Amino acid sequence: MDKKVLTDHVEEINDLIYDYLPREDAYNQELAEAMEYSVKAGGKRLRPMFMLETYRMFANGREEPEILFAFMAAIEFIHTYSLIHDDLPAMDNDEYRRGQLTTHARYGEAPGILAGDALLNRAYEIIFDAIEGSEEPDDYMGGISAARVLSAKAGMYGMVGGQYLDVYADQHPDFSVDEECLNYIYRNKTSALLQASMMTGAILAGASDLEIDLVEQMAGDIGMAFQIRDDILDVTGDKDVLGKPVGSDEKNQKQTYVSLYGLEKADEAVQAYTDRALQIFDSLRCRNPFLRELIELLINREK
Ligand code: IPE
Ligand code: IPE
Ligand code: MG
Ligand code: MG
Ligand code: MG
Repeated sequence: MDKKVLTDHVEEINDLIYDYLPREDAYNQELAEAMEYSVKAGGKRLRPMFMLETYRMFANGREEPEILFAFMAAIEFIHTYSLIHDDLPAMDNDEYRRGQLTTHARYGEAPGILAGDALLNRAYEIIFDAIEGSEEPDDYMGGISAARVLSAKAGMYGMVGGQYLDVYADQHPDFSVDEECLNYIYRNKTSALLQASMMTGAILAGASDLEIDLVEQMAGDIGMAFQIRDDILDVTGDKDVLGKPVGSDEKNQKQTYVSLYGLEKADEAVQAYTDRALQIFDSLRCRNPFLRELIELLINREK
């Protein structure tokens, strides 16, 4: 894929989601600034991109509704909050993210925690505004169904649940992570938000229940591949390209796919999970060549 195609997509997404950043008032100015600081830093915007492209895949050429843009902003805000909290001293204790100081390192720990909390709540505020304002009954019903999926995947049956076990294992050295446990962690801390991205895109486009189930399975595998590649890059990556530190997992004595099985097996697993995801992709009745290529590109991503 031409690099320009991808940067154009990122810019398109940035234009859409920055509109949903909060208004500031005299007393919360710093909080609003910390939220904007975290969101506007250079993230890859994969989750809103997956959502938009999954929508396009199932929407049969229908124009994108406003409610989709609200969900795209919401997922990026939830993801950004998860990163702010992930970097806190109580969790991975990292000071560099998206090419700049982490939010707590820049603004202090309490403003960092609260900027994360506020992004999470802003996400749902945006969604409910969009549901209430939707003119089409299908958007209204789809919005409610998509909000249910997003809230479950972001919470203790999803991202938060995975993060909990991830740091629990770090902080209890006797707790040994076996394959089943590692899968649980990755499927929740990482796959869950990718599933939410693609499933909400499919739901808003009017995909069938069967299609939504297949999208969930496919995104689960994409998330596994994505997290294992992230673990590889934590060892072999370049801090300036990644925009975040390398060696964070070793510092935290984190049991990762790489520390448990080695780099070679990890590479093979990224390929195998991606292959399985692409098989599901190809079994769907709808096509989106850009999305397919994006999934393949992630195998060898350097950031
Ligand atoms: C980082 O996600 C956290 C993981 C799930 C590995 P991304 O690699 O998508 O981070 P940004 O959004 O590009 O900063
Ligand atoms: C975190 O995984 C996934 C989240 C839910 C934030 P990591 O801790 O490996 O993510 P990075 O490497 O800090 O981005
Ligand atoms: Mg972490
Ligand atoms: Mg981390
Ligand atoms: Mg990592």
